[in-house]
Amino acid sequence: MKFSGILCGVAAVCSTVSAQYTASRYYEKTSGITYSSITLPNGVSYRISLPAASNISEAILQIVVPKAFGWCGLAWGGHMTNNPLSVHWATKAKSGQKAIVSSRMAFGYNAVPNPYIGATYTYLKGTTSNNTHWQVTSYCVGCTRWSTSDGDVDLTTQSETQFAYACSSVAPSTPTSNTSTFNVHEQNGIWTHDLSIARNVSFASFVSTNPYKGSKRDVEEREWFA
Ligand code: HEM
Ligand SMILES: *[C@@H]1O[C@H](CO)[C@@H](O)[C@H](O)[C@H]1NC(C)=O
Ligand SMILES: *[C@@H]1O[C@H](CO)[C@@H](O)[C@H](O)[C@H]1NC(C)=O
Ligand SMILES: *[C@@H]1O[C@H](CO)[C@@H](O)[C@H](O)[C@H]1NC(C)=O
Ligand SMILES: *[C@@H]1O[C@H](CO)[C@@H](O)[C@H](O)[C@H]1NC(C)=O
Repeated sequence: MKFSGILCGVAAVCSTVSAQYTASRYYEKTSGITYSSITLPNGVSYRISLPAASNISEAILQIVVPKAFGWCGLAWGGHMTNNPLSVHWATKAKSGQKAIVSSRMAFGYNAVPNPYIGATYTYLKGTTSNNTHWQVTSYCVGCTRWSTSDGDVDLTTQSETQFAYACSSVAPSTPTSNTSTFNVHEQNGIWTHDLSIARNVSFASFVSTNPYKGSKRDVEEREWFA
């Protein structure tokens, strides 16, 4: 695996992230959402909120990414292939939506992961960018349960699971499109994510009270009160 010299130079961001990095409970004041959150050594935060019980594979996913990265993805099954990939990037648009998520699944290592229709995402408040970071907050149906040639996976009742991430400093070729192509990652790694602290009886209200409006005003208001 090749790594970017710049990104590798600053710190130990090149080594595989191991289970020593533990997720902790994170309360986001602006949204009222409680997440199980981890910030990796590369500065990227992955946050998951789950219902206390549900049969429809729901999750809230928030990713907060330093601007040096062109894209960053989460692999819900802890490796690249045969599991839902939530791939995120900044749109670089002057107005409107500042960052997006793309639903993908990889069936090999030699191609851009395919669009994956088994997971659908609805943007929530907290999908924005500023001078230092971009971030996406989304409600996913289909990220916690899937079936592939590797078998059936269901995270619904698991207390922890292995996640994997991948990031690149190179932005996708058409950043406003969720079907854009993009280059291979310069970094990837795994960690064990605590799912028990992600579960909350107020999950449904986290979703309903944080609609993404995407208007300029909505984004500015959020940044003002952040
Ligand atoms: C153009 C897109 C991509 C290409 C060409 C690509 C290619 C590769 C290659 C060649 C490897 C090394 C396999 C090996 O060690 O033998 C790898 C590993 C890996 N990739 Fe990707 N990748 C892409 C996108 C992604 C995305 C979007 C994610 C996650 C969101 C991801 C996650 C990983 C992970 C976690 C590994 C470590 C090995 C594993 O867990 O399977 N990759 N990738
Ligand atoms: C559930 O979420 C609420 C609001 O974010 C928070 O105050 C509470 O501590 C959370 N409960 C658990 C068990 O994390
Ligand atoms: C799914 O759960 C809801 C309540 O959360 C329930 O009303 C519904 O019957 C369940 N559906 C199935 C197929 O189990
Ligand atoms: C792109 O967004 C559209 C509209 O929300 C959605 O229907 C489609 O599944 C998304 N595609 C990917 C690859 O995320
Ligand atoms: C920029 O966004 C990041 C991520 O949400 C946040 O931590 C940071 O405080 C923001 N910076 C400013 C100046 O608002």
